[in-house]
Amino acid sequence: MRGLPAALVMVLTVSPVEAQSTGKWPPDSLVNTVVIPKDTPVLQVVGRMRNFTSDLGVRCEFCHDGEAGKPLTTFDFPSDRKRTKVVAREMMRMVDDINRRLDSLPGRPTPAVRVTCSTCHRGVARPMPLSTLIAETAQAAGADSAVAAYRGLRTRHYGSGAYDFGESSLNVTAFRLGRANRFPEAFRILDLNAEFFPNSSGMEVFRGNIELMRGDTVAARRAFQEAIRRDPANEEARGRLEAVKPKP
Ligand code: HEC
Ligand code: HEC
Repeated sequence: MRGLPAALVMVLTVSPVEAQSTGKWPPDSLVNTVVIPKDTPVLQVVGRMRNFTSDLGVRCEFCHDGEAGKPLTTFDFPSDRKRTKVVAREMMRMVDDINRRLDSLPGRPTPAVRVTCSTCHRGVARPMPLSTLIAETAQAAGADSAVAAYRGLRTRHYGSGAYDFGESSLNVTAFRLGRANRFPEAFRILDLNAEFFPNSSGMEVFRGNIELMRGDTVAARRAFQEAIRRDPANEEARGRLEAVKPKP
């Protein structure tokens, strides 16, 4: 529909949806459920749907044809137009598969642990390790964007379990950026991490290893020495320092 006036696109895309909506909430019966048996009580399905929204940190319109803030009577729930709904259906099948496999574990402790959407999602729609998310942002959009993304996520999700804001996440991010030869970004990320974990010995080992990647042995040695100063019991730092000692 490229090139069409915006108003016309609205008419073409919105009106058929409204024409199909059932106009009744809750609906009398299930119309287009493939995974959920058709004879499941509608209110039970709605309960499951509410779990989806909290498990993924989204609202009904993330998967269903309907507008935020509008009454549910205007939604077309049976429609499969949204990609996210189709993905969610595959996820339901996947979770059923996983639980079936878990049911066959030998000597399974009781009570059994069941996998749900939140086992992976923990309140976010596209679950991924924080280190991956920040490294990808730094590579695609630069260090400023990566730092801003981290601060934003930390403000919004700290303590929720959605992301691991422990020290290792940004150390791993920096290490990955170093391996991709993105040294300014890597050091920027370590400096950000140092704001939250100012006396970390382990972080200086990461710094030293990244200095080595870019070939700066002197800076690496300094970082390993700093790691030992911060924690004299850091054996890894001692080993690394030994390995980069100037040859006699
Ligand atoms: C993460 C995606 C997702 C979210 C969020 C979600 N749903 Fe669903 N919904 C689905 C999927 C997938 C199906 C179809 C399940 C199947 O095929 O068995 C479905 C089916 C339904 C149906 C049955 C439609 C029919 O065909 O009869 C209703 C009603 C429904 N959802 C209501 C809701 C409501 C209300 C909300 C918000 C509280 C909501 N859903 C949130 C994915 C979602
Ligand atoms: C085993 C872990 C796991 C479980 C359990 C799981 N998901 Fe997912 N889900 C993922 C991953 C990983 C992705 C991201 C895939 C990608 O885009 O590369 C994802 C993506 C999605 C997406 C697409 C989000 C987007 O923005 O593209 C939806 C919708 C979704 N899951 C719904 C669900 C629902 C509903 C359940 C429970 C029935 C569920 N998932 C259970 C791991 C899981």
